[in-house]
Amino acid sequence: MNLGADYSSEGSRATGPLTVLGLETSCDETAASVVRLTPDGTATVLSSVVHSQIDDHAAYGGVVPEIAARSHVEMIDGVVRRAMDEAGLGYEALDGVAATAGPGLVGGVMVGLSFGKAVALARDLPLIAVNHLEGHAVSARLGEPVAYPFLLLLVSGGHCQLLEVRGVGDMTRLGTTIDDAAGEAFDKIAKALGLGYPGGPALEKLAATGDGARFDLPRSLLGRKDCDFSFSGLKTAASRLAHACETDRDRADLADAVQTAIARQLSDRSDRAMKAYAGRHDHRLFVVAGGVAANRTVRSTLEATAAKNGFAFLAPPMAYCTDNAAMIALAGAERLQKGWVSDIDVAARPRWPLDEQSARTDPTHKPGRKGAKA
Ligand code: KG4
Ligand code: ZN
Repeated sequence: MNLGADYSSEGSRATGPLTVLGLETSCDETAASVVRLTPDGTATVLSSVVHSQIDDHAAYGGVVPEIAARSHVEMIDGVVRRAMDEAGLGYEALDGVAATAGPGLVGGVMVGLSFGKAVALARDLPLIAVNHLEGHAVSARLGEPVAYPFLLLLVSGGHCQLLEVRGVGDMTRLGTTIDDAAGEAFDKIAKALGLGYPGGPALEKLAATGDGARFDLPRSLLGRKDCDFSFSGLKTAASRLAHACETDRDRADLADAVQTAIARQLSDRSDRAMKAYAGRHDHRLFVVAGGVAANRTVRSTLEATAAKNGFAFLAPPMAYCTDNAAMIALAGAERLQKGWVSDIDVAARPRWPLDEQSARTDPTHKPGRKGAKA
């Protein structure tokens, strides 16, 4: 069992419901949420407030770390107050405070983590430092109780990984990207198509009006025996084609081709992972999480692949695919339930792999990510 660095198991196991305030500031969303977790694994979101900084960064075509950190400082107070008000609770009703401690843009991570420490000290509450990716990993449990184990595709702006999730904080990475994350490919190609940031949702909208059959885009790693991903070839080829597009029809057709190519690669690698996973587990559940899981073509392609392999399919409610604090509160509550709490001097971590063992033993894949949060 991997508790992860900086956790102690000195707290006692909880037997009743736990109410946890979660804080998320690792990229360009300032978010706070109150979640209640009962011992049978039912999570109730009492409030979830997300302040997006998209407007602050739009002019730069991506997230500017200094602007992000400053905006988190300005917003966090009000966002937390709203989350507490909407939950209708006072601080005395909380059992713990969970804050994202990494990975992410460290200036922003420090804002949320410091705020969490201040609340923990002022109210004498346990602090739980949460790995942002563990938040995504449990996000499907915000919709319905989900039993461990499950096979997870975590696909966001900074990450693209397949993980065998056996329990709280107990995961093995089966594959990861050797260059870019899928969300980053969506964002960069969208930028080349003249769409705004974040590019994924804009590209999905444009693709709905196109037909990509005439474009032959690179099919990186399709059919390979491992579960790794690669999106840089597609990103470069599609960006070149985007600059050569002359009409709105060209752009819409290319957007459709890109979306299909990304969904196809995600599905091909997940198919591999399902076959490997099925040899080890009888309970076959495939979960997709992270911002790219909001894409309808990605969801339906993966759902079909899961069905073909005899896996049940689950994705988080749309609101919990992209960054939010409810998933951080829930990940914190699951740790608190086990009595795993953090020291008050726990540090913010710009890098923090979910499966530290794989990151150590497979140096070629060490970061496993690129992009704004790398
Ligand atoms: O999980 P997330 O909010 O942040 C990270 O942890 O990275 O994911 C953001 C990423 C962005 O790259 C965004 O373009 C992508 O998720 N995304 C989408 C869609 N909605 C968000 N990509 C494709 N289609 C969407 N509908
Ligand atoms: Zn995220």
